[in-house]
Amino acid sequence: MKTTKDIFDIFLQDASYQYIMKRLLEASMEESFNSIVITEAGPGYPIIYVNSAFCELTGYGPHEVMGKSPSILQGPKTDPEVIRRLGQNIADGELFYGQAINYRKDGSEFMMEWKIAPIRNEEDEITHFLAIQREVT
Ligand SMILES: Cc1cc2nc3c(=O)[nH]c(=O)nc-3n(C[C@H](O)[C@H](O)[C@H](O)COP(=O)(O)O)c2cc1C
Repeated sequence: MKTTKDIFDIFLQDASYQYIMKRLLEASMEESFNSIVITEAGPGYPIIYVNSAFCELTGYGPHEVMGKSPSILQGPKTDPEVIRRLGQNIADGELFYGQAINYRKDGSEFMMEWKIAPIRNEEDEITHFLAIQREVT
């Protein structure tokens, strides 16, 4: 099985490497069946990107969530213990995986399953978080 590094290596000899990588990333995120959210690593984890699958899953349009915290998906039945562990995991720079009840824009609830990966810059500082989400039935 290919690792991430191998996938980048495939295009390494190509003159328009950066252009291809950009297109590859865009297509992977936009066409994904899973919901994808990217946030800044700063206070409140403001959202800077959501894909189409996020909008289909939650009922929010991209412009309604830009700059907001993913905690807009939470409500009365969201398990605070899962959210506490999430905060702990990402503060420690670890991968988070969990499930909790979330709420769509129309207020309907569903069980969300999601992972969060820290994204580091060249200085190894965490600058962003990437979440992959889906509804579990
Ligand atoms: C990238 C990312 C994605 C997140 N996605 C969800 C989500 O789908 N559902 C959810 O209930 N919380 C999600 N959260 C967690 C909320 O944002 C969380 O409650 C909040 O980060 C805790 O913030 P606090 O420590 O400021 O209270 C996500 C957080 C990050 C960083």
